[in-house]
Amino acid sequence: MSKVKKAIIPAAGLGTRFLPATKAMAKEMLPIVDKPTIQFIVEEARASGIEDILIVTGKAKRPIEDHFDSNLELEMNLKEKGKTDLLQMVEETTGLNLHFIRQSHPLGLGHAVLQAKSFVGNEPFVVMLGDDLMSDDIPLTKQLINNYDSIHASTIAVMEVPEEDVSKYGIINPGEEVQKDLYNVKNFVEKPSQKDAPSNLAIIGRYLLTPEIFEVLEKQKPGAGGEIQLTDAIDTLNKTQRVFAHKFTGIRYDVGDKFGYMKTSIEYGLEHPQIKDDLKDLIIELGAKLSKEDEKKAKKEVKKDK
Ligand code: UTP
Repeated sequence: MSKVKKAIIPAAGLGTRFLPATKAMAKEMLPIVDKPTIQFIVEEARASGIEDILIVTGKAKRPIEDHFDSNLELEMNLKEKGKTDLLQMVEETTGLNLHFIRQSHPLGLGHAVLQAKSFVGNEPFVVMLGDDLMSDDIPLTKQLINNYDSIHASTIAVMEVPEEDVSKYGIINPGEEVQKDLYNVKNFVEKPSQKDAPSNLAIIGRYLLTPEIFEVLEKQKPGAGGEIQLTDAIDTLNKTQRVFAHKFTGIRYDVGDKFGYMKTSIEYGLEHPQIKDDLKDLIIELGAKLSKEDEKKAKKEVKKDK
């Protein structure tokens, strides 16, 4: 059985939830404090033993390619000024086994993954969504790879979401739990209504897939939202070979959504050595200010009622 060594990071979506910031810039380049989101994903891949990464880019591809390329002028400048810590930080983004391919039209996640067919060849691989950050003791991608080493089958990461949010996700219809947090899947449904959803276990941004998915994707018709959906292809794959779901119990950060982005920035900021103390003070100050305002509002309401 082949080892999982390749990852695909789709980063060619339109990012409409984050307009106008994403008009000329990929949302995957939005910084969390001082690091572009996609760099966290690349770091997760490397920490999981991935050796080769293909980034699927769209119109705004240049900044992504440039970010992972060397910048000699900047490096010389930092070296001359003796800023070795900054230099090291910049150098960490280069020298990786990164490849790029263009998805000329954003026809959907399934279509983005299909662009990686010849890069992947006949090996199992992972798909890591460029706008989803996962935090856990063991990186989620590594958890999926560990599963693969024992079950040798496609495994999709899922997590429980509130019932009212199921229509935003691909949802699984789980079968039996074959081992802790690992489920057989009866079927997959993309963005079901709350009443039709078979569970509240939602597909999140990490997938481990066998290469047979490409044969399915080549024939895949557009589904929800008129897009070629990866979920639909996985549902078809599950009819010919078993696909499992691994329940993630860490924290997921949806950076492609405005509120999700703010939350991520604050939580990561509270861990950042340079700003965590000031940020904590600011949050305490704002908390006190907001509760004073709430008190005032409540008093006014009471007066009105009298
Ligand atoms: P999303 O559905 O979150 O991306 O896709 P989107 O379409 O850019 O988002 P909104 O809803 O308009 O804000 C999940 C991931 O798949 C990539 C996106 O870049 C994102 O990382 N994607 C999506 C592609 O690479 N190509 C596509 O055609 C669609």
